[in-house]
Amino acid sequence: KPVDVDSLKALVRTVPDFPKPGILFYDITTLLKDKTGFAQLIDAMAAHYLSQKIDLVLGIEARGFIFGPALAYRLNAGFVPVRKPRKLPAPVARVTYDLEYGTDTLEIHLDAIQSGQKVVLVDDLLATGGTMEATVKLVKQLGGEIAGLGFAVELDFLKGRDRFPGYDVFSLLHYDE
Ligand code: PRP
Ligand code: MG
Repeated sequence: KPVDVDSLKALVRTVPDFPKPGILFYDITTLLKDKTGFAQLIDAMAAHYLSQKIDLVLGIEARGFIFGPALAYRLNAGFVPVRKPRKLPAPVARVTYDLEYGTDTLEIHLDAIQSGQKVVLVDDLLATGGTMEATVKLVKQLGGEIAGLGFAVELDFLKGRDRFPGYDVFSLLHYDE
């Protein structure tokens, strides 16, 4: 049966003025610790991809590591971590991208994806889309076929999905402010 999105949203805690004044933080830890809520969230995300044969699910450090492996298990796919710099031991591809202040870097093992493999890219949150855009570049560099971009939460008002025309962008929980 279809998941009740509003009941899942009711499990997300909102924290005003975190990490800085004026920001309303959507805290998913309260959803994660609810066994029914967590299972429903993963199942609903998986349902979006179950009709396809997915080879790999890729998760973005750190919070993408909460959802990616659970989704990979559910889809009978492998899991690939995209990590912050200097964490991966074997040869990597690296991308640096702009933040509000400064830059950030992400890395992936060069042999993590074989050319033509179908990959779902997963993170907890779609905000501006900068993190996922950088990750898309890494996957393209390795020749992966991007089956979709999946998120638990999307901040619709930031219009991050506009960075991904032509891609399947799927988020379960949407927020307008
Ligand atoms: C957060 C979040 C997403 C990203 C979304 O990660 O987990 O990865 O920001 O923002 P964007 O769409 O504007 O790029 P963050 O780098 O804060 O750290 P963490 O996942 O390591 O906690
Ligand atoms: Mg993150």
